[in-house]
Amino acid sequence: MPIVVVVGGQWGDEGKGRIVDLLARKARVVARYSAGNNAGHTIVNDRGEFKLHVVPAGIFYPEKTCVIGNGVAVDPEVLLGEIESLESKGIDTSKLVLSDRANIIMPWHRELDRLDELARGDKAIGTTGKGVGPCFVDKVARRGIRVADLLRMEDLRPRIESTLAYQNKVITAVYGGEPINLEGCCQAYFEFGKRLAPYIGDVSTIIFEANRRGEHVLLEGAQGSLLDLDHGTYPYVTSSVPSSSSSGAGLGVGVGPTDISRVVGVFKSYCTRVGNGPFPTELFDDVANQLRDHGKEYGRGEYGTTTGRPRRIGWLDAVAARYSVRFNGLSALALTRLDVLDSLASIKICTGYELDGKIIDTVPSRESVLERVVPIYEELPGWRTDTTEVRNFDDLPPQAQAFIRRVEELLECPVDLISVGPSREQAVIVNPIF
Ligand code: GDP
Ligand code: IMO
Ligand code: MG
Repeated sequence: MPIVVVVGGQWGDEGKGRIVDLLARKARVVARYSAGNNAGHTIVNDRGEFKLHVVPAGIFYPEKTCVIGNGVAVDPEVLLGEIESLESKGIDTSKLVLSDRANIIMPWHRELDRLDELARGDKAIGTTGKGVGPCFVDKVARRGIRVADLLRMEDLRPRIESTLAYQNKVITAVYGGEPINLEGCCQAYFEFGKRLAPYIGDVSTIIFEANRRGEHVLLEGAQGSLLDLDHGTYPYVTSSVPSSSSSGAGLGVGVGPTDISRVVGVFKSYCTRVGNGPFPTELFDDVANQLRDHGKEYGRGEYGTTTGRPRRIGWLDAVAARYSVRFNGLSALALTRLDVLDSLASIKICTGYELDGKIIDTVPSRESVLERVVPIYEELPGWRTDTTEVRNFDDLPPQAQAFIRRVEELLECPVDLISVGPSREQAVIVNPIF
């Protein structure tokens, strides 16, 4: 039975939460596999509007098991706050499972994130400041604190002691910052551990068993593939693996690549990016403002779910998107926010880059080169019709159908799902994913 990965195809905020909320109806287990609370996933359904940072978007179905995988960097205070907030709105979180192997975001991670960004000056990455990058650095350096360590002070104290001794030296000597108090850290994180204890479990086994029983499993990605540590616009990337490459999704929950049967890439009908770094199709004109502020009166404009920063806006970049389709091994596309284009007279898609007088159709690896490419556009007529009530492909305006068909052609991947609004039912299912 399928394990399906839902992965962001661009620079994040493509609507992954919204798509997972829709697809979760047919799944038994929904698992987050990477990143941390740098992610912000918006879900609008019959229970209201929610912004999730750590908890998987399947949580609104009380009978589903929702899992936070070993690949996630967990800030316990944020997770506990999210659980409390969901419970206060009547959402049952009793079926949530947190991997005992996940790494913990500690106070020094948030401080190092802040200090490192300051030190980079005008070369700052533009991180979300949640400490996610430094947490993954400690993980790879084999000095991270893991969920299981929180449960016994005998395990926790020596780990915090040795890592904090090192990181306090970095904070004070390298950055001139203030050291973090050991005792306060030990007590606070031990308390978090006590409160998280009922949720802690063995995630890999849960997914393995569900798969063996023939039940559907959804793996929910965070961020977007162009922020991928390996394949993204390095160094303006995140510190984990948002893509579904076998080192991403499977690794983040403990299943092998042969168990993953489909990978669905979520793409906006245009592009956005928050934070710094190259963005070839970026727009600075009225169209950008119009797209950014679409739905702003309802708090639904293009402003960061986690940080509130205005998102940078651009036309759909088919060169970057095709690259993303390739390295993710995508089987299908979910195209979101089609309705946001409803009022435009014409729509552009970038089909190639011009670099030093030559046309290229690949994404250069060096950010200084990607900064210099000039997008080559194809212009399609807009449809100037409200699509938010459409539920069948054939009922879409012909120009919208042509736009979608062209996206399929350029990306060499079928569009199986089209989203025409933020609510669960505002979708056109072309081919059922489960
Ligand atoms: P994620 O991080 O990929 O889950 O995406 P975010 O939640 O950060 O940003 C996506 C935004 O678009 C959210 O405000 C969603 O409610 C909204 N959204 C998702 N799909 C659609 C759609 O088809 N149309 C409109 N208008 N909004 C959508
Ligand atoms: P979701 O899951 C959009 C971006 C940051 C910054 C870079 C590094 O909601 O799509 P980090 O804090 O990860 O070290 O920042 O990555 N970034 C995101 N952009 N959506 C996200 O998550 C993001 N998570 C991180 O803006 O450019
Ligand atoms: Mg988001």
